[in-house]
Amino acid sequence: MGNELESLKEKIEREAQGIKNQADLLKFKEKFLSRKKGEISLLFKKIPSLDPEMRSSFGMEINRLKKIGEKLLNEAEERIKGEKRSSIISERIPDPTLPGKKKIHGSIHPIARTSYEIEEIFLRMGYDIEEGPDVETEFFNFEALNIPKYHPAREQQDTFYIREDLLLRTHTSPVQIRAMRKRKPPIRVIAPGRVFRRDEPDPTHTPMFYQVEGLVVDKGINFSHLKGTLEIFSKSLFGKLTKVRFRPSYFPFTEPSAEVDISCPICGGKNPNCRICGGTGWIEILGAGMVHPKVLMAGGIDPEIYSGFAFGLGVDRTFLIKSQLLDIRYYYENRVEFLEQFR
Ligand code: PHE
Repeated sequence: MGNELESLKEKIEREAQGIKNQADLLKFKEKFLSRKKGEISLLFKKIPSLDPEMRSSFGMEINRLKKIGEKLLNEAEERIKGEKRSSIISERIPDPTLPGKKKIHGSIHPIARTSYEIEEIFLRMGYDIEEGPDVETEFFNFEALNIPKYHPAREQQDTFYIREDLLLRTHTSPVQIRAMRKRKPPIRVIAPGRVFRRDEPDPTHTPMFYQVEGLVVDKGINFSHLKGTLEIFSKSLFGKLTKVRFRPSYFPFTEPSAEVDISCPICGGKNPNCRICGGTGWIEILGAGMVHPKVLMAGGIDPEIYSGFAFGLGVDRTFLIKSQLLDIRYYYENRVEFLEQFR
């Protein structure tokens, strides 16, 4: 452990010296100090796996490292400011009437940003982030989710196979199984990521899109927990006045299942020609339900003791609704001239 901390410290010092500008500063901060993914923050997660008598000293070491990282970051920031000031003073301006130099800097893709916004809401509710692979086994994508071979639900999601038993996942639901096998209840996770379907591109479909899966498993979890959670979520994302509507539906991996609509955040159902809800006043944003006992079992969890709910939310769709846009395809063409307006 000592060595690991020591070499991380050296790395931090080395990279701090290399900071030259604002972008480097941000990169450094993100890499080492970001609360979610920073290398230092990740060390805190190791604490529970250590011998109890090691924990507090290890924790103190990490805190010390964090302080060092923060100090170096501040110093680098001061240094850059100083350099900038002196270069402004020493620079001779040949022709002050010339147009300035335009700097182009990147920004987060609007769909990724929507996913982050969704993640933030659940992180605040105490969920963890779980991940699964884009190339998934047939078992996790279908079988374990109670979609046996020749089940009609497969047809809808017939997809891109790499091999007979390996495919591009068609939803984020396989991460439910992975999370259950990895964790013990109480489980509260969300799993954001890419999914793939054999869909013709049209204004609301692309063969690759994003979902955020949610899964909660514990003793005594019931449908009202699902409703309450999705209600809080929808109000946080679309505004306090948002209403949520559950319609009975079917998914092989949940029972009972529901499709969930939110009241149209654009017209509130008042505009019969609303482009977003088509005048119905409601927009479907996710599928959800109580985790099927067979799915709990596939995850190694005893359905006699535990119950759970799950949901799967379309990120692209959420983005379109929030920004009142009509065609998702532009966002995947990745033309900078177009994307620039969403900074
Ligand atoms: N996986 C489903 C889909 O992609 C959504 C879903 C997730 C439904 C979890 C119920 C529970 O359409």
